[in-house]
Amino acid sequence: MAVTIDQLRKWKEQGRPISVLTAWDFPFATLLDQAGVDVLLIGDSLAMVALGYSTTLPLTLEEMLYHAQAVTRGVNHALVICDLPFLSYQESPQQALRSAGTLLQQAGVAAVKLEGGYPDMATTVHYLVERGIPVMGHVGLTPQSVHQFSGYRRQGTSDADADRILQEAIALEAAGAFAIVLEHIPAPLAAKITQTLAIPTIGIGAGAGCDGQVLVTADMLGLSAWQPPFAKAYTNLQESITGAVKQFCDEVHNHQFPQ
Ligand code: KIV
Repeated sequence: MAVTIDQLRKWKEQGRPISVLTAWDFPFATLLDQAGVDVLLIGDSLAMVALGYSTTLPLTLEEMLYHAQAVTRGVNHALVICDLPFLSYQESPQQALRSAGTLLQQAGVAAVKLEGGYPDMATTVHYLVERGIPVMGHVGLTPQSVHQFSGYRRQGTSDADADRILQEAIALEAAGAFAIVLEHIPAPLAAKITQTLAIPTIGIGAGAGCDGQVLVTADMLGLSAWQPPFAKAYTNLQESITGAVKQFCDEVHNHQFPQ
């Protein structure tokens, strides 16, 4: 049975952790879905891991739509959520509605994710939710603000910043968000937010006290050139792919393939 937003909330209530991975194309989406991941996030990290940009900022809505369409073609089970790219929602709630509507209508994703909290993003979340578009929030290290943060630094390390992030999460829940990503914040802060909110929290670099965990699939599979300190590689596809390609080249050069 396909995973729904209601199901995520039930899993939180039952204490059953939620698994989330990112996807950017048809073959990976198919494999991840068939392997049983609960949620597939078409994260704007695809700008870096699939398109070679050095940040997520250059990704456009058109590029995101193209990737989202490929992902949804491969998914039967997981809940599919798509990031709103930089500058596709910050201008106004109306702009966010047009962008989110495009992704739901033309790619068939079930929900969108946007970065930031109170007050502007909470207003936008409320506007979208009132119009039938499910929204996931994202607080802590929000990569679209990388320049404002002077790098991909851990957030919420001072008492004031930790309180700001907690208040943002509370405001997003009050605005109607169905879940929130907590990225690169201290584990005790993430645990406190998780206990405060009724909606599920999905952590990345935020410790074990969240309701679910997300990793960028390229990091998890050992495919990315650089990995954040909190990532875990479960295999090394770079090594496997390089080995297979070298073997193919050797066999062609040595007249061993085809036999
Ligand atoms: O873009 C992305 O992959 C994300 C995850 C890190 C949560 O937002």
